[in-house]
Amino acid sequence: MKNKIIVTGGCGYIGAHTVIELITHNFEVLILDNLSNATEKTLERIQKITGIKPRFTEIDLKDAVKTNAIFSKHQDAIAVIHFAAHKAVGESVDNPIKYYKNNLYSLLNTLSAQRKNGIQNFIFSSSATVYGTPKTLSITEENETQRPFSAYGNTKKIAKEILEDLISTDKTFSAISLRYFNPIGAHDSGLIGELPSGIPNNLMPYITQTAAGIREKLMVYGMDYPTKDGTPVRDYIHVVDLAKAHVAVTRLLEKKQEKAFEVYNLGTGVGFSVLKIIKSFEAVSGIALNYEITDRRPGDVPQLFASTALVKEKLGWSAEKNLDAMIRSSWEWEQNVRSIKNL
Ligand code: WQD
Repeated sequence: MKNKIIVTGGCGYIGAHTVIELITHNFEVLILDNLSNATEKTLERIQKITGIKPRFTEIDLKDAVKTNAIFSKHQDAIAVIHFAAHKAVGESVDNPIKYYKNNLYSLLNTLSAQRKNGIQNFIFSSSATVYGTPKTLSITEENETQRPFSAYGNTKKIAKEILEDLISTDKTFSAISLRYFNPIGAHDSGLIGELPSGIPNNLMPYITQTAAGIREKLMVYGMDYPTKDGTPVRDYIHVVDLAKAHVAVTRLLEKKQEKAFEVYNLGTGVGFSVLKIIKSFEAVSGIALNYEITDRRPGDVPQLFASTALVKEKLGWSAEKNLDAMIRSSWEWEQNVRSIKNL
């Protein structure tokens, strides 16, 4: 008998990679997604990779009635993994209401529906952005969270407070918040990867689109930071490693007796600068990247990388893929994505 997991936003970048790992580890998956930033073709691609097409319902989780109705049909699910959210930092600064409405209504409706229907485990897709400008270089889960620069980041911080309040009153409910550092890369099959809509906000897709001739050049946002080469440092983690961490957390919840709220940082523990990423991309792809140093981007912090001790100790999980593997899979996906558009 397979345990059923409800994955909201499961057609998205990290969601789809996680669904593949869940299926591979013998879980049954129901995807709920409104396809606002994803394509239903992802389901066929997951089937090509795993041999199983996950069940799927197109739904906007901002609709409380429809959300409760779908959860009432899946009371046998043992956990919810909640990816569904808007995630463009820049857009959230320009349009905060859109982000607070979408990300918080979807979260609250999901939590309410799953509790009404007896599903007592919740895994939340959070972000290292909740640490704001960290006071230490290697960030542990004890680092205080600060008011993030963007509405997007603040929806992740508010979610943490909602979960803390919920857990403090409902002793039958468990929540685990996973704080991703910088997810990059794509599945080795070349069939799924990041599909940024419009101009990419994030570094890696912008690099690969520049190398593919879609963008004229990469603007490097600042080389006057207090780092080795002056460009900001981030903890890049392969999306497949991230997906495997979700399986480890799901398995922990399957076994857990006491209910609680836990937080885990998901990174590699190693930071790389923007210039290092560029140089590594050039070495992996053999392409000289066209880039220009420009001004800092508002809200960027100088350095951010994870302490990985807690997740290693509690889950026995650590990232396995190195930077070249992350970059190679991103570049292979970029070269492949337009040819598989109609797959
Ligand atoms: C990385 C570095 C930029 C683009 C954000 C969110 C985080 C998560 C990941 C959602 C920075 C530099 C970037 C470009 C550049 N989002 N850069 N030129 O800002 O660390 O994190 O994305 O889950 O929550 O906060 O990632 O990839 O945008 O930037 O120089 O065209 O690359 O300045 O130093 P970031 P990023």
